[in-house]
Amino acid sequence: MDKVNFTQMKDGTKEEYEFLTAHEIDHTKHTAHRLLKALVDLDESLSGYQITRLGHSVQSATRAWRDGADIDWVVSALLHDIGDIYAPYNHDEYAATILKPFVREQCAWCVQTHGDFQMLYYGHHLDGFDQHKRERHAGHPYFDDCAEFCERWDQASFDPDYDDLPLEFFAPMVEQVFARKPYDPAVIRAGEREPLTNTSVAAERE
Ligand SMILES: [Fe+2]
Ligand SMILES: [Fe+2]
Repeated sequence: MDKVNFTQMKDGTKEEYEFLTAHEIDHTKHTAHRLLKALVDLDESLSGYQITRLGHSVQSATRAWRDGADIDWVVSALLHDIGDIYAPYNHDEYAATILKPFVREQCAWCVQTHGDFQMLYYGHHLDGFDQHKRERHAGHPYFDDCAEFCERWDQASFDPDYDDLPLEFFAPMVEQVFARKPYDPAVIRAGEREPLTNTSVAAERE
């Protein structure tokens, strides 16, 4: 079989669906590669800043890496703005949806809400924006983590003179994260928190 016969899903056979499932599994193996390619496409978006979206993404990940953050944090920092390509009005939720099956819940939540937290840095300059929008998440167990994510890695990463690591440096980490079993409770670790910084790991990485 190289393609199915049905034209309506309700007419498909067991063999056809098994064939399609095998194809889908093969397709999912290349998710990391497609995401890395999408990051390069980000390079063309959002002019006006001193660095491109790709530069911002790589710089966020580089800062996370140099802070001694674990792989879930580093990959989340790298991909946190990937939604800018197709979802300019909810880019945070879009990125979180991609990450959710493969990273700790803590990290996915921070990516999902980072747009609200980032407003702290610019909301007061623009009409119709609430600088303190993040307060709607007050009391959430990951509130402080998202505040730190934005302060250390997101809002700080627009510097054209910062010594970024290359995207290729992060590729194996993206491959590793997206090769995980999706929604594995041992990865999601619901309710658990890991620090964003680890000084001894950071020292080893220097
Ligand atoms: Fe963002
Ligand atoms: Fe960002």
